[in-house]
Amino acid sequence: MSRKIGILTGGGDCPGLNAVISAVARGCEQAGFECIGFKKGFEGLIAEDGYIPLTLEAVRGIAHLGGTILQTTNKGHFAAKIGAGEKNQIDQELLDQVKKRVAELDIECLIVIGGDGTLSTGLQLQKNGINVVGVPKTIDNDLNSTDKTFGFSTGVEIIKEGLSRIHTTASSHDRIFFVETMGRNTGWLALYGGIAGGADMILIPEIPFSIDSIIEFIRERKSQDRNYAVIAVAEGAKVKGEDQVVQRQIGGRENLLGGIAVHLGMEIEKRVGDELEIRTVMLGHLQRGGSPIAEDIILGERFGYAAIEAARNKKYGHMVSLRGEKILTIPLEEAVDQLKMVEPNSELVRVAKSIGISFGETT
Ligand code: F6P
Repeated sequence: MSRKIGILTGGGDCPGLNAVISAVARGCEQAGFECIGFKKGFEGLIAEDGYIPLTLEAVRGIAHLGGTILQTTNKGHFAAKIGAGEKNQIDQELLDQVKKRVAELDIECLIVIGGDGTLSTGLQLQKNGINVVGVPKTIDNDLNSTDKTFGFSTGVEIIKEGLSRIHTTASSHDRIFFVETMGRNTGWLALYGGIAGGADMILIPEIPFSIDSIIEFIRERKSQDRNYAVIAVAEGAKVKGEDQVVQRQIGGRENLLGGIAVHLGMEIEKRVGDELEIRTVMLGHLQRGGSPIAEDIILGERFGYAAIEAARNKKYGHMVSLRGEKILTIPLEEAVDQLKMVEPNSELVRVAKSIGISFGETT
């Protein structure tokens, strides 16, 4: 009887997921494993027709496609994240049900592709006797213990493109633009995308800023005949002393962030009136949709290959991870222990400052 691997994608979708799925299915074929894919994340583990066979035919030509052929969800029975850093314990009955199903299907190892929340659920499954190997995914790049998650570089590329387009219209009209990026509670996307896209100011959750310092910065630019500004702002960024701006509160789940760009625009207009003409852009899910760039396809394929190697070597309870140029495995516990934040005095922040980018810091 052939050995069987199950694979699923959980949480928000992200460019590069299909590259991982393709690499896992192909790796299974070569290693003599049968591969099945669960639909809509962990939900597929408890649904009647919750999985599909991942034959070579099923994964042919998918590596460069956006989204996930298995579909995904960041809600439902298995959502482990209920807030920044807060984790939910999955119902024991449900964990037992999954264990039974995995045994019935004779699955030797479950490859779980996801971010902090999905991998936390994966860890709970592992602790309940199901063999799990994790693959780190998220455009936010906020997972600890890996230098990079796949999908992040594509998000950065889209922000770069968005900011450079905004530059021409901002300068033509002498306008101030706040361009909001995703990133949840961390500023990686805004920082990398902001530098690459030539932002004049970058506002991130890790560096406190004030409305006054933003106004001061814009006035200073005007005094040097630069009458416009492009400001990249991370959705999780907050004005010093204020709460995060929340787009929607959803019971039992993490708040949906969004709206800080509009908030800043309105607050500044209130204070300066007609002196500045302000516009806001929310890049939103454009950062997550569509094809991955080459770097994310390659990282996805490398992670997929490494996940199969980990399964072959029974390295269960581990996540594949990029460290420098190498792919390693690290304990899942370590991966979901805490979020990876931007260090305010890191080299990249210093580089940004040295090329004239402001972070709106309060003095
Ligand atoms: O974690 C990925 C992410 O895109 C965040 O950057 C963003 O805050 C969130 O997901 C949006 O979630 P949803 O898919 O529920 O809109």
